[in-house]
Amino acid sequence: IPPSIAKAPVRVLVTGAVGQIGYALVPMIARGAMLGPDQPVIIHMLDIEPAAEALNGVKMELIDAAFPLLKGVVATTDIVEACNGVNIAVMVGGFPRKEGMERKDVMSRNVSIYKAQASALEQYAAQDCKVLVVANPANTNALVLKEFAPSIPEKNITCLTRLDHNRALGQISERLNVHVSDVKNVIIWGNHSSTQYPDVNHATVSTSAGQKSVKELVGDDKWLKTEFITTIQQRGATIIKARKLSSALSAASSACDHIRDWVIGTPKGTWVSMGVSSDGSYGIPPGLMYSFPVTCEKGEWSIVQGLKIDEFSREKMDATAKELMEEKSLAYSCLN
Ligand code: NAD
Ligand code: LMR
Repeated sequence: IPPSIAKAPVRVLVTGAVGQIGYALVPMIARGAMLGPDQPVIIHMLDIEPAAEALNGVKMELIDAAFPLLKGVVATTDIVEACNGVNIAVMVGGFPRKEGMERKDVMSRNVSIYKAQASALEQYAAQDCKVLVVANPANTNALVLKEFAPSIPEKNITCLTRLDHNRALGQISERLNVHVSDVKNVIIWGNHSSTQYPDVNHATVSTSAGQKSVKELVGDDKWLKTEFITTIQQRGATIIKARKLSSALSAASSACDHIRDWVIGTPKGTWVSMGVSSDGSYGIPPGLMYSFPVTCEKGEWSIVQGLKIDEFSREKMDATAKELMEEKSLAYSCLN
């Protein structure tokens, strides 16, 4: 690209950059997987003091990889320097759960980080900074961040349920033996936890004969209502059991998908799942960070309206909302 039309670099913060997800994520960002192949980036990496030397090692590797889009690297253990002027903040820093734990078991360690980092983001990030919280419990960390950074527009704070969404696409593609990119419009409702509700009532597959309903093609309602749902709800735990570590490459890749669709827009007729602040749509309590189907245009997400919700779905959507309200009070009791 001639310099005259080259885009100005976008500053992307990754917290917890030394960790598993961070290490997978920063090269993806530097290769354009998050913001596109013609968008230069400056990557800000934050980690904690004990990881400072390793952080410097990751910086060296980013330089060594000679990424054409990478216009600078800030590697720091100082939250203010990390947040300074960032346009996108991907909050991965925190502690992952281990085998046998629920995501809310990491609550007390992680929510206090999000309370502290909220004010730094509020004060030092670019005014229109878009925030994605990945660290668990993701919805509740995002809620804490939103409540302790009241000057950041509510619409700019989101959490990652795209991994669950992608997992649902993957399971349907395996079951029907179709390509994953031909499956669309699954929905993850609610919490990024074992109460989430993966819903395929509106999902479709592109075939040579046009769009077909996933429900009709699967033809086994029992599987869709039982094994399919629990597979997605438990996928994080299943990966931890297999790897002895929580998911990393899929989490990093889904974080790129989340930001890319948010910034660049969702394809026509396609929605994705994002954890966002509820506006009361579908009877979900306003202000709760809840995963909804959304479309994105010009850097803004909107909740898909008017989907028919049957009794089975209603019950599951309410159960995951209830868990989020309980998590919220647990988070506040940890912070006090
Ligand atoms: P990890 O332990 O490998 O890395 C976490 C990093 O965060 C470490 O380098 C640690 O030093 C750093 N860190 C801790 N406190 C920090 C702070 N205050 N500021 C900055 N950095 C800090 O963990 P991981 O496997 O990369 O997972 C990171 C988080 O993401 C975990 O909470 C995990 O449960 C969560 N996760 C979420 C999803 C999702 O879909 N939402 C998917 C996978 C993992
Ligand atoms: C995942 O879904 O893989 C992550 O949230 C990690 C976990 O604790 O399950």
